[in-house]
Amino acid sequence: MSQSLLSTQHLLGIKYITKEDIELILKTATEFKEVINRPIKKVPSLRDITIANVFFENSTRTRISFELAEKRLSADIINFSASSSSVSKGETLLDTVNNILAMKVDMIVMRHPAPGAHHFLAKHIDANIVNAGDGTHEHPTQALLDVYSMIEKLGSVEGKNIVIVGDILHSRVALSNIFCLKKLGANVMVCGPATLIPKHISSLGVIVEHNVRRALEWCDVANVLRIQLERQDVRYIPSLREYALYFGINRHLLDSLNKEIIIMHPGPINRGVEITSDVADSRQSVILDQVENGVAVRMAVLYLLASARN
Ligand code: NCD
Repeated sequence: MSQSLLSTQHLLGIKYITKEDIELILKTATEFKEVINRPIKKVPSLRDITIANVFFENSTRTRISFELAEKRLSADIINFSASSSSVSKGETLLDTVNNILAMKVDMIVMRHPAPGAHHFLAKHIDANIVNAGDGTHEHPTQALLDVYSMIEKLGSVEGKNIVIVGDILHSRVALSNIFCLKKLGANVMVCGPATLIPKHISSLGVIVEHNVRRALEWCDVANVLRIQLERQDVRYIPSLREYALYFGINRHLLDSLNKEIIIMHPGPINRGVEITSDVADSRQSVILDQVENGVAVRMAVLYLLASARN
């Protein structure tokens, strides 16, 4: 019999869940994708659940996507952002969250700049914690929606060649994608300037390539990432113009391949830097499918975590 509950009470990272958990989330997301395409998009599944969306870092897509997923599941929602809260008055993370919990919150969806902040909370409080991005560490729901979007196009990712291009060093999307794709049996390559690729990344079982043309010739899917300038304390690349010249994905490059690959990007896009507009808006790009699938995947995660509550 296939598994019907997750092996975990929290979604802290893809590293900490099993292949079966991933498959269960993807299967449940397919059911929710059908629901959100009906005229009546709402189901009562989380009617008795209260969720706090706690964002200590900027977010557009992820915050809205979680909020929409929660609304489609009929949960009660509290939105909390650090800039307008008592965090700016010196309150600790644990105090802030305990105060939210005193209001009888069942789940916390949190984005925080400190890697591991979610692990810390999970040890101290008993609500379900969902990681919506922890610094440069993990962004599990992004990886799940990326993999869901790949499977939608390819049927499966097992044995497929996926390259992640860009600022691997600062990207939580890259790390979560690597864990997720490897667990599902894909071949994973990372490509970017040597300064933006962590030194020991091959220990995760990924191939390292510095030539973007060779990477694209190898792959079935290219997941293109932004240069995360806000996380760079020193200069890792001479200039964005030079990055665009050597690593940017443009029409000319794609047309020179003897096959059509799938182009993905988690957003936000810096048009003309890591990807040109004619590629981002092309038939090969599934960037907007990723956004649509994000809601279904997040509904699946929240629903499955809620199902395991007693
Ligand atoms: C990413 C993030 O915030 O980690 N975006 C997202 O969640 N859609 C990637 C990024 O900021 O470049």
